[in-house]
Amino acid sequence: MKKNKIAPSILSADFANLPKQIRELEKGGADWIHLDVMDGHFVPNITFGPPFIASLRKLTKLPFDAHLMISNADAYLGKFVEAGCNVITVHAEACPHLYRTIQTIKKYGVKAGVTLNPATPVAMIEEVLTEVDLALVMTVEPGFGGQEFIENQLLKIATISEILQYHNPECELEVDGGVTENNIAEIVDAGATVLVAGNSIFGRKNITQAVKNLKKIANT
Ligand code: DX5
Ligand code: ZN
Repeated sequence: MKKNKIAPSILSADFANLPKQIRELEKGGADWIHLDVMDGHFVPNITFGPPFIASLRKLTKLPFDAHLMISNADAYLGKFVEAGCNVITVHAEACPHLYRTIQTIKKYGVKAGVTLNPATPVAMIEEVLTEVDLALVMTVEPGFGGQEFIENQLLKIATISEILQYHNPECELEVDGGVTENNIAEIVDAGATVLVAGNSIFGRKNITQAVKNLKKIANT
């Protein structure tokens, strides 16, 4: 039986109602909470940082999956661990010493992930695919929720999936951006094991049902 995970991104949530919305995600069977951290420098948008995450930590026991869209991520890794993140994913484009950054994350005792923008080739992360616990394929330009899935990234998902199959089979393959009920099946077919979804959960009237639907299709 498949065990693909759904990781709702709270980027599209109603921040004033987060305790209620997180309970609704839990009811729907959400596996992780995806946290989009943006600095207005690496990406043209600003969201939240460690203090916000630390207060969210009191609301749920679900694993926190932090996606750092920030420059100089190395300087903040400890703060994100202290705040309660369980997976920390960094961008290849923002981290010149990627190997060291990944080892640092792992030394903190949390899971390390690596990601890349749609225009960045797989070669940029290939040398660290044996080192990580998670590889994340961005299927939109990072920075905003509610964008359309970039179709040609399916090939990148399949390429990374094949590399992982041989060299790091335990590694999760996460996909982030434009995931919906309509395309989630083909994304899973390409090899994804963790599906991030913002708009296709929080844009629906019934958040619990939206998570259930995505999870069901991802595991059929
Ligand atoms: C974009 C973020 C995504 C985003 C996904 O920079 O990394 O996690 O919130 O949102 P949707 O599912 O709406 O594309
Ligand atoms: Zn994200």
